[in-house]
Order: sequence, then C-alpha cells, then structure tokens
Amino acid sequence: MRLDRGARTILSDIDLVVPRGSITAILGPSGSGKSTLLAALTGELAPAAGSVEVFGQAVPRRHRELLELRKGIGVLLQGNGLLTDLTAGENVALPLRAHTRLPPPVIEQLVLMKLHAVGLRTAADLYPRELSGGMARRVALARALALDPPLMLYDEPLTGLDPIASGVIMSLIARLNATLGLSSVIVSHHVRETLPIADQVLVTANRGIVFAGTPAELEASDDPLLRQFLRGEPDGPIAFDPASAASHEATPASPATPGASRPATEAR
Ligand SMILES: Nc1ncnc2c1ncn2[C@@H]1O[C@H](COP(=O)(O)OP(=O)(O)OP(=O)(O)O)[C@@H](O)[C@H]1O
Ligand SMILES: [Mg+2]
Repeated sequence: MRLDRGARTILSDIDLVVPRGSITAILGPSGSGKSTLLAALTGELAPAAGSVEVFGQAVPRRHRELLELRKGIGVLLQGNGLLTDLTAGENVALPLRAHTRLPPPVIEQLVLMKLHAVGLRTAADLYPRELSGGMARRVALARALALDPPLMLYDEPLTGLDPIASGVIMSLIARLNATLGLSSVIVSHHVRETLPIADQVLVTANRGIVFAGTPAELEASDDPLLRQFLRGEPDGPIAFDPASAASHEATPASPATPGASRPATEAR
C-alpha cells in the first residue's frame, strides 16, 4: 500500500496485518507518517495504491458506508477533543446520542459503565476544566469506547502526561484490550511506555515501515537506524527532515504475530 498527501508520498510499500485481539504499536519519529497510517485505517485517507481491509472488508469509499464502518472503530486522538461546555458524562454520551436510539436512562447507565471502565465513575458531572490531564484522557478513552468498537486506534495517547498518568493510561489500554477482546493500534513515539504492552511493533521512518516484529526483536536489533530511534539520537540514518531524506532501503515488513484467520485490519 502507498499513502500520499497531495503530490507527496508519505509511506510506500506498506504491508501490515493487525491480528484480532492483539495490540500493535506503530512507533517512529515525528513526521514519519504514523498518523497518516491511522487515517488510512479509518478511511479518512484513501491509499494511492494498494488496499486496506478492516474486519475483513475493504474500507468503503462511499460516505454512508464509511460512517457505518467507523462506528466499529474507536479513536483516541492526540488532543482529547472533549467539548469544554459539556460534563465528562455528557461527552461520553455524545456518540450514544448520535448513533443509537437508546432511551436516555439507558444512555445514562452506559455512560456510567464506560466511566467506570476507565476508573472515573465519580467524575461524570465534572467539566473538562475540572479534570487533570490524565483524567481528561481517560474520559476521552471512555467516549471512544462508548459504542463498543472492536477496534481501537490511539494516536499519541501519552502526549502531555507525566510518567504516572502515562502508566495508568498504558495499563488501561492493555486491560481494556484483554477484557473487552479488542484489537488495538497505538501510535506513539513513547517507546519505553509502549513496548511492554505491544504484541507486535512497526517502526515507520524514511517513508516506509523499517521494522516489523515483536518488541523483543526490536530491542535485540542492531540495525543502526533502529538503534538511533530507540536511543533517541538526533544524528544517524533517520534524517531530521523526512521530506529531504534519501529513501532508506526498508526491510520487508512481515507481521511477526501469526495472523488470526480474520485479522482486525490489513493493509497491502
Ligand atoms: N492533511 C495533510 N495534508 C498534507 N500533508 C500532510 C497532512 N497530514 C500530514 N501531512 C504530512 O505527512 C507527513 C507525515 O505526517 P504524520 O502526521 O502522519 O506524521 P506523524 O508520524 O504522525 O508525526 P508526529 O509524530 O509528529 O505526529 C508530514 O510530512 C506531514 O507534513
Ligand atoms: Mg502524528
């Protein structure tokens, strides 16, 4: 699969499978195309070549079918996207009000259940400004879970959080994935926090996927590019400005985790 933005190729030769029930981490330096890859999974960006499948079905191009597919995908964006003049509970209720015809008391119960799932049952009546950054992130997570999506996409879930709040979010993501039987894709440049909960890791750099494997395989790699990224060094095979980088010869990406018979998503 190839992903372009305007006339620019952001990622090419992308080949990835997200097995059901697993957590896939997409790591890579800033500007390497991680968010762009998520946009392809939600159908927001159509691939310039190749195809994307979610739940065994090609991502539709027609708007209405796309909206239907997106109900099955929970997205936690970099900014929490909470509406500031609504309470935490009202924020979580939004997708339920928009996409279901459930009676208000049922929605109220579901909202409390979702808040409970992220450890914030008592925060329903608080406004976003009354929440800490970590709590606000968890409310956004509860909202992303509102419609019980089988696939969760997280774009930089740790941005702006201290190490303790980061630990809370990461263990929550892992626990929700296991208890609700979800499939998750986590985009992050927080390598240390993300690797421990990931089943498979993809690293994007120099306009492609330069690594696909398990966290242990990544840690053990002696590829200079991966070492540079893991150690966070400014100089090395990853160019600071990816737009001007000479294209790096990408190692063919093959999913390390054996794919379940029907993967949650697949991009070729
Ligand atoms: N809507 C857009 N229109 C044009 N170019 C875009 C658009 N979104 C992203 N890009 C470009 O695509 C490239 C990859 O961006 P992307 O946001 O996917 O990177 P990223 O890996 O998520 O970075 P970060 O870690 O900083 O979030 C960048 O060079 C960016 O300028
Ligand atoms: Mg991004």
